[in-house]
Amino acid sequence: MASVVTRVPADFLWGAATASFQIEGATREDGRGASIWDRFCATLGKVKNGDTGDPACDHYHRYPHDVALMKSLGLRAYRFSIAWPRILPEGTGRVEEKGLDFYDRLVDELLAAGIRPFATLYHWDLPQTLQDRWGGWAGRDTAAAFVAYADVVSRRLGDRVKDWITLNEPWCAAWLGYGWGQHAPGLRDPQLAMTATHHLLLGHGDAVPLLRRNSPDARVGITLNLAPVHPATDSAADRAAARLSDGLSNRLYLDPVFKGSYPTDVIDGLGVSAPSIQPGDLEAIRAPLDFLGINYYMRLVVQADPTGCSPRGESVRVEGAARTAMDWEIYPEGLHELLARVHRDYAPASMYVTENGAAFDDAVGPDGRVHDEQRRVYLEEHFAQAARAVAEGVPLQGYFVWSLLDNFEWAEGYNKRFGIVYVDYNTQERTVKDSGRWYADMLHG
Ligand code: FCB
Repeated sequence: MASVVTRVPADFLWGAATASFQIEGATREDGRGASIWDRFCATLGKVKNGDTGDPACDHYHRYPHDVALMKSLGLRAYRFSIAWPRILPEGTGRVEEKGLDFYDRLVDELLAAGIRPFATLYHWDLPQTLQDRWGGWAGRDTAAAFVAYADVVSRRLGDRVKDWITLNEPWCAAWLGYGWGQHAPGLRDPQLAMTATHHLLLGHGDAVPLLRRNSPDARVGITLNLAPVHPATDSAADRAAARLSDGLSNRLYLDPVFKGSYPTDVIDGLGVSAPSIQPGDLEAIRAPLDFLGINYYMRLVVQADPTGCSPRGESVRVEGAARTAMDWEIYPEGLHELLARVHRDYAPASMYVTENGAAFDDAVGPDGRVHDEQRRVYLEEHFAQAARAVAEGVPLQGYFVWSLLDNFEWAEGYNKRFGIVYVDYNTQERTVKDSGRWYADMLHG
């Protein structure tokens, strides 16, 4: 396995990723306000088994131990997110110093361990007050509130955090949260999802110059979840459905961020109206970035909807394909395809895989170990596709495995385990899985 390491530049950043709501727990501590995910979890039937953000991995208290664990694995970088409601419990206005103190300590701990911090400002835990006040991201004021929050955080951490990610997966925040209801805040209105998309991207664009100002020499980017979309057959109808599906998954976010325009064929095809765009919005949204973060989990294979009801068609299952516990097809080649396509069509200055990984049904065996051979193979095959892209000249600079720890997998609750480290939620004991041992061996060379 040393081969993948030797096939990428020596300064390639191998790391792991997490997100605040998924690991921290302590949702009522140190003045933290409620987020839309706390509310969503408290709503009957939204999250499997009624799971909530507590205790998660109790990382809020165990972070020194978790950083030591990262160090022992040999991680060079760690991507985490900051919980907006810990910093501004009401979303705007009053700053909770204890919230800032927590991330301050975490960053210092990481730096002392020689691990480079990548901070994501928004990984879905919007302060509930902003949902109540302005309809969350459906309201333009939320974009301005995000910029004010980014200002507070980057003033405090900007001397030490030099890699900033504004948003994680605005597609998920907008469509799963506002369009189809599977995620918080649980609304089902495609027009709202389109509006939320614009406000998310506006918040991103306006935050970019400010992060550069507050954090000298910082590198700033955004993380998008992207997926190759293939037509199920070569028929014109399947190809048209795949094109629209690709537009919704990929172009609707890549085009405004890199070209300053929304793809009109996608907006028309989805049957929604264009968002209300004010002068200067698109220029702000296309602020030059230092990197693009890509989260890769699957491809979509799409066929036309025979009833014609859904112009973007429907996803079909590929017969015989291996799948993860999320029921996502395992398709490593898609990572190479995606990196090459984004490089060709959008030419970001650099890229990171900010998330890639898999859930499997893990358990600690009688020998005290977690033999997750499927995850090891999954990672090995995806790493190889990334190395292939690097060899072809794609400016990929690092790779963050999702996830460091088993954690709260959103609407799936604690049932789906993505970690390279197993978490026993009763005892909070961590057990490095075989995949984590293999990754550590690779990193230690
Ligand atoms: C991504 C999310 C991340 C995690 C993985 C499995 O969409 O960004 O928080 O849940 O999926």
